Parts: sequence; C-alpha cells; structure tokens
Amino acid sequence: MEVRSEGIRLRFWFVRLCSSIVLWICLVQLVTLPKQHENGVDHLPPVFLPPRNYTSNGFLRVSCNGGLNQMRAAICDMVTIARLLNLTLVVPELDKTSFWADPSNFEDIFDVKHFIDSLRDQVRIVKRVPKKFSSKYGHTSLEMPPVSWSNEKYYLEQILPLLRKHKVLHFNKTDTRLANNGLPLDLQKLRCRVNYQAIKFTPQIENLGRRLIQMLHEKGPFVALHLRYEMDMLAFSGCTQGCMEKEAEELKRMRYAFPWWREKEIVSDERRSQGLCPLTPDEAALVLQALGFGRKTQIYIAAGEIYGGERRLAQLRAAFPKIVKKETLLDRDDLQYFQNHSSQMAALDFMVSVASNTFIPTYDGNMARLVEGHRRYSNFRKTILLDRKKLVELVDMHQNGTLKWNEFADGVKQVHEKRTVRPTRRTVIIDRPKEEDYFYANPHECLCEETNCDEFLGHHNSSSQVA
Ligand SMILES: *[C@@H]1O[C@H](CO)[C@@H](O)[C@H](O)[C@H]1NC(C)=O
Ligand SMILES: *[C@@H]1O[C@H](CO)[C@@H](O)[C@H](O)[C@H]1NC(C)=O
Ligand SMILES: *[C@@H]1O[C@H](CO)[C@@H](O)[C@H](O)[C@H]1NC(C)=O
Ligand SMILES: *[C@@H]1O[C@H](CO)[C@@H](O)[C@H](O)[C@H]1NC(C)=O
Ligand SMILES: *[C@@H]1O[C@H](CO)[C@@H](O)[C@H](O)[C@H]1NC(C)=O
Ligand SMILES: *[C@@H]1O[C@H](CO)[C@@H](O)[C@H](O)[C@H]1NC(C)=O
Repeated sequence: MEVRSEGIRLRFWFVRLCSSIVLWICLVQLVTLPKQHENGVDHLPPVFLPPRNYTSNGFLRVSCNGGLNQMRAAICDMVTIARLLNLTLVVPELDKTSFWADPSNFEDIFDVKHFIDSLRDQVRIVKRVPKKFSSKYGHTSLEMPPVSWSNEKYYLEQILPLLRKHKVLHFNKTDTRLANNGLPLDLQKLRCRVNYQAIKFTPQIENLGRRLIQMLHEKGPFVALHLRYEMDMLAFSGCTQGCMEKEAEELKRMRYAFPWWREKEIVSDERRSQGLCPLTPDEAALVLQALGFGRKTQIYIAAGEIYGGERRLAQLRAAFPKIVKKETLLDRDDLQYFQNHSSQMAALDFMVSVASNTFIPTYDGNMARLVEGHRRYSNFRKTILLDRKKLVELVDMHQNGTLKWNEFADGVKQVHEKRTVRPTRRTVIIDRPKEEDYFYANPHECLCEETNCDEFLGHHNSSSQVA
C-alpha cells in the first residue's frame, strides 16, 4: 500500500505547507513520485524542471474534436505523441462546432501557461506556428486524421517521415488516436502526467469550482450523480424511456438533423434492455434508494440541462430533497460568464465530481470514464459503476409487481457488491480497442510503482473482478 501511505503523507505535508523544509521535501516528491491531490488541485506554487534540449522534427498542430473530456484525453495523447516524435506542439485547438458549440479556446478553459511550463522538460509547446510556415508565405501543411488506436510504431514509422517532409502536420481529429495498451511505460506515464498535473483549468474556473466544492463539503458528505439524461445523449442513443410521444419525436428529429450520427432508426426498448441507455432520473432515484442512500443524502447533479426539466426530476427530488446543482448553489452572477460556454460549465461539474465523496455515473461516456480515472488516481475515492443491463431488468420487475421493494433493493445491492472501483488492471481485448477498458478510466501503470504493482493491483483484470 505504498501509494496510499504516500498520499496520506503528502496530504499531511500540504496541511502544514508553510515551513520551507516541508516545501523542499514536497519539491523532491513533486519531481520523483506520482502525486495525489485533494480535489485534484495543486496547493503549492508549481516548480518546473528546466526545458528539455532537443532538435525538433517539426510542428504538430491539432484540432481536438468532441466535448470537454474527450478533448482532455486527446490533449494528453497529443503531448505524448509530440514527445515521442521530438516535435514542437502547438497549443491544441478546441472543437467549436460539436453539439455543444462552445466558442472557448484552450486558454479560456485551461491554464495555458501552466500547461506549457510544466511540460517543458518533455516537449516544447508554442502558441502558434511560426509565420514562415503559414499559408501566406506559400507553405502548405499536411492535414490528416491519424489512424485510431495506433501504437508508437505507427507514429514513428508512418507519421514521422511525413513530418520530416512537410515540417508542419495538422491532425484534424484527435479522439482515441493512441492505443490503450501495449505502449512503452514512459509514454503511459506521460499521459498521466499531462492529465493529472499539466492540465489545470483557468484560475477563474478553479476558484469557482473550489467554492462549489467547499459549499457542498460544509453541509457534509455528498454524492455526485452524473445524470446523463440530456437531450443530445437521448437523441444520439435513441433512448426515449420516460419521454412523452412528442418528446420522442423531437429527439428523433434531432438525430436526423445531425449528419455525423450514423444510426437513425433505433428501438429504445431494445437499447435499454441491453444496458445501453442512460438511466432516467426516476430509475436513478430507485437505484440510489436501493443502494441505501437515504433522504438526507446530499446529491449534486453533475450534468447540463436535464431533458424534460424540473418535471422529469420530480421523483428524484421527492426521494432526495437535498438535491443541488451548480445553478442552485451559485448566484446567477457567478455563473453568468460561464453560462454560454458548455465546456466551462462541464469543467465545474468535472471538478465537483472528482472531489465528491461518492461518484455515480448513470452512463459510461467520456466524462464518467475520465472522472473514474481521476478518482482512482486520487487514492481511489469511492466510485460506483452501475450495471445498467441488470438494473433495468430489476426496475421493470419491481414496477410490474414481480419484485417487492425489499427484493428489488436486495437485488440491486447484490448486483453492485463488487462494482465499487478497486485497484485492478485494465482488461485488454486484442483488436477490439473500443470494447476494452479505456486507458483514462484506469491508468493502472500510474497508480503503483513497478515492484508493488502485482500486490497492489492483484492478478485480476477489471472484467474478471466485475463478473
Ligand atoms: C542544446 O544541445 C546542443 C547539442 O548538444 C548544444 O549545442 C546546445 O548548446 C544546447 N543548448 C542549450 C540551451 O543548452
Ligand atoms: C529524439 O531526441 C532524442 C535526443 O534528445 C534522440 O535520442 C531520439 O532518437 C529522438 N527521437 C526521434 C524520433 O527523433
Ligand atoms: C481532415 O483532413 C482530411 C484530409 O485533408 C479530410 O479529408 C477530412 O475531411 C478532414 N476531417 C476533418 C474532420 O476536418
Ligand atoms: C447567452 O446566450 C443567450 C442566447 O444565445 C443570450 O440571450 C445571452 O445574453 C447570453 N448570455 C451571456 C452572458 O452572454
Ligand atoms: C415483469 O417484467 C419482467 C421484466 O421486464 C418480465 O420478465 C415479466 O414477465 C413481467 N411480469 C409481469 C407479471 O408482467
Ligand atoms: C481478463 O480476465 C478474463 C477473465 O478472467 C480473461 O478471460 C481475460 O483473458 C483477461 N484479460 C487480460 C488481458 O488479462
């Protein structure tokens, strides 16, 4: 349990952070060990290593696609690729055209100075490509999406020669471009270092996020419920459980309106019975009650707008009167600046979710997976991974009278007995990267030092533990 005791020791230091001796010790630890921070927030003034001196093979421009958390994982991958190929990375461009249509640039969401400085011993990061490489000066850079789930050989053998030739390469898609498994350990560790240390939100977001967390902690422990019952998810997944006919039609229209959502005709009931739908707020209420959370439980809803609004939340609110969300905890003035920036709003939910006493996602998207990984890294804070396939079956049997409340609650508890996140290795499925455990949900290489990993992670992988 090296990691655990390390975390406790570090926290101890953080509390007494003023003396210079302590600062010095922390400094040494900062440089040598994976660190675990309260709330994922660094409380010490950062200390940066000297810049790495290397000959750059060219510039890498990247345009991230997707929502905040998909882009976050991609940024970690892109830094790692730039390091592997000795490139100069240009500060990533964020997606402004995705469903969320957030016009924010990198520096509106992330602390760009910290990002550049804290990685300078690994890779050079610049704000823009030098003028001589711009199209105005007749330079044409090569634009392409790298092949998904590639390993280091692909980048060294296929991509590096292109860079030598073109000097500037533009990756115009960045999601899941790096394999989960089979990469050299130093690259895996760099992915973690970017994710857990180099990426920080802007001070503005950090401060507001910390205020939210403090307000919640003052009232006691809280559950962060990632309730992914949002319009885009329902339209995309075709899940209409709990919707009125009019709403189901609206969702379908939206699905047809988005050309890059490939599936158009979806049977909601089939999806749901396969466990592929986010839980409805009503289902979530039953499940939380069955898991033993009482009326006094403080529940933070980490989500954007719930589809159907307050009406759809009525049952959950009746069961858990202490439901809050950022919009109810903060003044309108506080949120005003963030309101039209969905990624910045999502950043607040991310911070609160990472810091919560218990995290329960109702769907396993990028946010759920990145928060899960972050909580593993933060001393394995409690995360419960719901088995939606079994849950909807139990819910249906309870609602049609086959299962009495006690039987239902026992069933739910039993199904989730082993679904609280514990140290395990990722499950590897050769040639089916989408189905294996996602690196950022369980970066197990970064959670222990080589010699104690077998003991710490056990010999099982996630699927064998959960089964
Ligand atoms: C970087 O390395 C090169 C070659 O080893 C050396 O000539 C140069 O002085 C170094 N630059 C710095 C700033 O250390
Ligand atoms: C990157 O630079 C290092 C020296 O700093 C060198 O050993 C390595 O071979 C270089 N790799 C590539 C892909 O250029
Ligand atoms: C990326 O670039 C390729 C090659 O220019 C192009 O075919 C593709 O449409 C681009 N994709 C995006 C998402 O811009
Ligand atoms: C946010 O967007 C809405 C609608 O587009 C607009 O009415 C409102 O003024 C905007 N708020 C801020 C703070 O920019
Ligand atoms: C109740 O629902 C379950 C699960 O959908 C189903 O298997 C069962 O046949 C239903 N029972 C009745 C009495 O409707
Ligand atoms: C994970 O565990 C399952 C069940 O024990 C096993 O079938 C599978 O091969 C394991 N995968 C890896 C990569 O260890």
